[in-house]
Amino acid sequence: MRLEVDSLSFSLKRFFNKKLPQEKNNSKIPRHVAIIMDGNGRWAAKRGLPRTAGHHAGMVALRRTIRAANKLGIAVLTVYAFSTENWNRPQAEVDFLMRLPSEFLRTDLPELRAKNVRVMMSGSREGLPEYTLAAVDEAIASTAGNTGMVLNFALNYGGRAEILQAVRRIAQAVAEGQLQVEEITEQTLQQHLYTAELPDPDLLIRPSGEVRLSNFLLWQLAYAELWFVDVYWPDFNGEHLQAAVEAYGRRDRRFGGL
Ligand code: FPP
Repeated sequence: MRLEVDSLSFSLKRFFNKKLPQEKNNSKIPRHVAIIMDGNGRWAAKRGLPRTAGHHAGMVALRRTIRAANKLGIAVLTVYAFSTENWNRPQAEVDFLMRLPSEFLRTDLPELRAKNVRVMMSGSREGLPEYTLAAVDEAIASTAGNTGMVLNFALNYGGRAEILQAVRRIAQAVAEGQLQVEEITEQTLQQHLYTAELPDPDLLIRPSGEVRLSNFLLWQLAYAELWFVDVYWPDFNGEHLQAAVEAYGRRDRRFGGL
């Protein structure tokens, strides 16, 4: 177990060229930005359009944001594309949302590859349609060797479910005698999350006026700076991202110290 952890640390250090996920980031540019892409439905309703039109406009906003994040030198961008709670929406809306990753990647994967972006996914594969998984898997495989910005889709993601599956796997390792209870640390848990390879987010952005976490990255956001902005996601653009990053740069991050 310890050997595995050491070699993982080594490859992560190489990948990020500096710090491990648990290490503090004191740079003025957030290394990892996480976004809750909220307000698509309200954006559409305001225009008398179906909610799906809002999701489509949200995809265009995502494209803009990826380009802007890349220009700003952000190392990891995680976007909340579908939560485990979103299954409760009407079937037609769920179907539309499930088709968005393939639509987006069909048009945008060539640009992502050209820009050295690496695609990842955080979430449960269970319940996702074959065509959604196929599109995401292809993007992951074909960008696996890229060394630029990481674009991480939180898809079929729920923070509590993520922690629960980590706990179950750790308990299983203990039951099988591969791990002692005293050996379990925060790092052990971190390494069983979907985001094991990634540093924790430094900055969380939520547009649309809502001020809550909605079960997003509950463990990983422990020390993140939070930024709420009063525009619906389809209207979000590079300037909004820039404003959030600048505000982040002015924050005094103490991580519980002085
Ligand atoms: C929340 O807004 C948004 C979603 C549940 C879907 C997010 C998807 C996108 C932004 C499209 C891009 C995604 C991919 C994978 C290419 P809401 O529908 O809850 O809005 P509301 O609160 O105004 O109803």
